[in-house]
Amino acid sequence: MSEPTSRQPAIRVTLLPRDTNSQGTIFGGVILAYIDQAGAIEARLHGAERVVTVAMEKVVFHEPVRVGDLVSFYGGLVRIGRTSITVQVVVEAAPPRPGATPRKVTEAEITYVNVDAAGRPVPIARPGAKPGVTPSRRRRRLTR
Ligand SMILES: CC(C)(COP(=O)(O)OP(=O)(O)OC[C@H]1O[C@@H](n2cnc3c(N)ncnc32)[C@H](O)[C@@H]1OP(=O)(O)O)[C@@H](O)C(=O)NCCC(=O)NCCS
Repeated sequence: MSEPTSRQPAIRVTLLPRDTNSQGTIFGGVILAYIDQAGAIEARLHGAERVVTVAMEKVVFHEPVRVGDLVSFYGGLVRIGRTSITVQVVVEAAPPRPGATPRKVTEAEITYVNVDAAGRPVPIARPGAKPGVTPSRRRRRLTR
């Protein structure tokens, strides 16, 4: 999967001077924390209930994020296993002004495991789930 499957971001934030690194741009760890949260939201849209992050893979920082940028985190399903679910998160940033073109700044693939209250893996209850089902279609189904 190379592009997000929904144009509705899981998270949208403006980052602050406190989030910067020594170069004056946004610290990568701050972006990773939001990616982890956005990915967990995406995992829940596909049937996972209580998730823990087991792997963050293929994290690529394409461009720096600047203080004041509007930063959007888009999720998309990669695959669903028995107890695990892998999602992609694409991060776009743009100055917060009308007509600004967003730039893809970061992308990552994250795998979560659906767990019980004791932290043990449990199956994801989605018999009909297929990669490619978009979050927006899933949302429509949930609201019917
Ligand atoms: C996630 C955790 C519950 C998995 O426990 P486990 O004993 O390895 O479980 P299993 O071997 O049964 O694997 C469970 C699923 O995770 C997948 N998995 C395990 N390790 C993986 C890895 N490194 N990368 C991708 N998937 C992985 C397995 O393939 C399996 O998926 P499936 O059921 O869809 O086939 C356990 O490793 C854990 O608690 N890790 C810490 C999680 C955490 O605290 N995260 C926050 C980071 S601070």
